[in-house]
Amino acid sequence: MSKKPARYTVTAALPYTNGPIHIGHLAGVYVPADIYVRYLRLMGEDVAFVCGSDEHGVAIPMKAKKEGVTPKELIDKYHGMIKSSFETFGISFDNYSRTSAEIHHKTASDFFIKLHDQDDFLEETSAQLYDEEAGQFLADRFVTGTCPRCGYPEAYGDQCENCGSSLSATELIQPKSTLSGSVPSLRETRHWYLPLDRYEDFLKEWILAGHKDDWKPNVYGQCKSWIDDGLKPRAVTRDLDWGIPVPVAGGEGKVLYVWFDAPIGYISSTKEWAHDQGIDWEPYWKAKDTQLVHFIGKDNIVFHCIIFPVMLKAHGDFILPENVPANEFLNLEGQKLSTSKNWAVWLHEYLDDFKDMQDVLRYTLTANAPETKDNDFTWKDFQARNNNELVAIFGNFINRVVVLTHKYYGGTVPSPTKLEKEDLATLNALREFPQTLSGSICRYRFREGSQELMNLARLGNQYLAGEEPWKVIKQDPGRVQAVMFVALQIAAGLAVLCEPFLPFTSEKLKRMLYPRGATPPQWKDVATPGSLLEPGQAIGPAALLFRKIEDTEIQAQLDRLQATKKSNELENASLMPQKETISFDDFSKMDLRVGTILSAEKMPKTKKLMVLQVDTGLDQRTIVSGIAESFEPEDIIGKKVTVLVNLAPRPLRGVESQGMILMTEDQDGKLVFLNPDEGGVGNGQTIN
Ligand code: 2FM
Ligand code: ZN
Repeated sequence: MSKKPARYTVTAALPYTNGPIHIGHLAGVYVPADIYVRYLRLMGEDVAFVCGSDEHGVAIPMKAKKEGVTPKELIDKYHGMIKSSFETFGISFDNYSRTSAEIHHKTASDFFIKLHDQDDFLEETSAQLYDEEAGQFLADRFVTGTCPRCGYPEAYGDQCENCGSSLSATELIQPKSTLSGSVPSLRETRHWYLPLDRYEDFLKEWILAGHKDDWKPNVYGQCKSWIDDGLKPRAVTRDLDWGIPVPVAGGEGKVLYVWFDAPIGYISSTKEWAHDQGIDWEPYWKAKDTQLVHFIGKDNIVFHCIIFPVMLKAHGDFILPENVPANEFLNLEGQKLSTSKNWAVWLHEYLDDFKDMQDVLRYTLTANAPETKDNDFTWKDFQARNNNELVAIFGNFINRVVVLTHKYYGGTVPSPTKLEKEDLATLNALREFPQTLSGSICRYRFREGSQELMNLARLGNQYLAGEEPWKVIKQDPGRVQAVMFVALQIAAGLAVLCEPFLPFTSEKLKRMLYPRGATPPQWKDVATPGSLLEPGQAIGPAALLFRKIEDTEIQAQLDRLQATKKSNELENASLMPQKETISFDDFSKMDLRVGTILSAEKMPKTKKLMVLQVDTGLDQRTIVSGIAESFEPEDIIGKKVTVLVNLAPRPLRGVESQGMILMTEDQDGKLVFLNPDEGGVGNGQTIN
């Protein structure tokens, strides 16, 4: 969009109501979205910031079954929990809706009907995976198997969470029902498909030509690779009884695919909000001068950049997203966050454990945001960011300024008698910050922005340390007036500019510096710093902005994670019952040999796969193994391993794998070779 937008519609991915919110959701989606929106509001922009609970899809009945409740009870429980934790955390949605709301069912049904009536769907009968034991079709999370693109063994029927590929259940290698554990059969069923292939030219022009320079490289790159691979029609209905009923003839017993209805939830949420405000929702989704921005995690890119835009385009009435600043993933203490494995820092628990410390988590997650690569959250880093930056730099500066202003001037801003060179240089440096921070925020570089903000606090500290007003006050009180005046301008600048990043702190600080209803300055005023706090203006008493976090508090969190790890291990052990008894003949069909790894290379564009050359004693052959996250190639060359040599060859990402290396896992889930290194065993020796 070349002209300045008239309004903004900002969406944050609708969280599934199958669990609470954790730090991965916050770092990837909600904190950056909230920073962006708070900034836009400070600029006086017209913004609709919408979100809501994603309450359909297979994940809901599956989790309900696990918890022994109905799907409705499940979504009510988690919707309530998620909504309230977002509110307490300060995510400033204009509207937080839910996809079970009537307005959403109607909006999504009408959308489907319009596309249906315009002949935008293909209707096809095809063979789909069916679980004979459970008596139902298997799609999405009802089925797992090996990803045909990257070899990840736990890909879902609609998506591989490892490589982000969008899949059809029938593409999975060795599919397995998550309902009964059985191997599915194929059965015919009729569905509606969105013919993505018809939109290839549109997508090429809109994304590949139109957004090469302004979309993040990870987002653009993923889109390009899907488009280059060629798009296929995608089913948008499912044989399920939980979801929005397919609203056209022949749709009985079927529902809309969750990824068809969920993004329409953004529109429904906007409608709900506009209705409550008594305003028209349509400009927020239809006017060409509206800027639509979707905040999401990287696993949602295909849905927001390809499928939803194709739906919007086919519908015909709607604008397309201007940007989709997707983030990478956040890990926790070196391991992938997981709702089902309880490997998470849950927002509601954080809010209980660290009362009134929302900004500390916001800051930590922003300073370490997974903007360009996956990042790790550690409790030690959280403590260090708080104690060494928020307390020691930001809080310390403000405290010194406010305390000294009270000590020397009874809490009144002093009049600067004469500003020296260093005072003017400091004020000039302050003047640059609004623009620098705006630049970072508008380019979705929130991590950079948070560090610039801390640099402003550093500027204040360095200035005070250099001028030493506490020493100078005795011999030159006039000089201290100028120094404190300048320091107070920086404090005021911080109060205003930290609002998007640290909203609770900003409010506290503004109340401190502008007591009794005085009006704080605006963002742009910081560019003319002499007037942020005028001489004679009264400030309030010093109040604590940040408190130190003790080692014991961090240890308590680490102990909790350790307990989770232990209980997962126990559960895993009990989840792995002995497999069915096999005959000796069955066993002896496996030809297990000792081999040596001769060379190892990571397979490009995959995370897990490594291509190995192995000397099996019989021959030298290629084996593709999913071990790249556990080993570096150079560390395993020359290693003796156990190889199943007569496994049927299979292609993995275009490379034929001729066998399998036997592995197990250590306590941290890291892979370990079944190791015949002992005692000089020769290659080719059989194992029996
Ligand atoms: O990945 C998820 O958590 C999905 N519930 C996100 C949905 S975003 C949108 F399109 F609704
Ligand atoms: Zn994959």
